[in-house]
Amino acid sequence: MKTLVIITHPDLKNSVINRRWKEEVEKNAQIGIRCICDLYPDGVIDVETEHKILEQYDRIVFQYPLYWYSAPFMLKKYMDDVFTDGWAYGTGGDKMEGKEIGAAVSCGSAESAFVEGGAQCHSLAYYLGVFDGIAAFLRAKYIGYFAFYDTYNPEALLSLEDNAKKYLHWLVNK
Ligand SMILES: Cc1cc2nc3c(=O)[nH]c(=O)nc-3n(C[C@H](O)[C@H](O)[C@H](O)COP(=O)(O)O)c2cc1C
Repeated sequence: MKTLVIITHPDLKNSVINRRWKEEVEKNAQIGIRCICDLYPDGVIDVETEHKILEQYDRIVFQYPLYWYSAPFMLKKYMDDVFTDGWAYGTGGDKMEGKEIGAAVSCGSAESAFVEGGAQCHSLAYYLGVFDGIAAFLRAKYIGYFAFYDTYNPEALLSLEDNAKKYLHWLVNK
């Protein structure tokens, strides 16, 4: 099982969670990493290159900070541009078929806020449900998500080291 982590963060060098997660992932040389905001600062994605890279991996994990219950816009652009007709779907479009798709998401709010009727209105699983649809359309399998919550809380940050190790384990053993 070859894993690729696609990181979308508009300011990774000033990130706390996603930068730490990236450092941990880098400890496993078998896992590929693409920081798409850094690779494509002008937003122009080299689709052919991304296709060739995706084709080499079995498990694709989208790592990003939760922005407005969604992702930084570059992830949407990546999907719009890279999951093309004839490659990802449509006639002859079978390149994502059989792959696993997951998400790793950092959230400013506490986990307790992500409940139906809570401060964040719904669960994180609800907001990430879009990956269920994407995976089904691409004939891939959604494997769920890994999360870090409460990013503005210094006490929560004390668990980041442990969380990062669990993340690497999840990436490989999920
Ligand atoms: C534009 C923007 C939108 C955000 N939207 C949410 C949100 O909907 N829910 C939430 O829990 N946190 C939200 N946050 C907080 C980020 O998720 C949090 O700062 C990030 O996960 C921290 O990760 P980092 O240290 O890697 O930057 C938002 C932050 C920004 C800048």
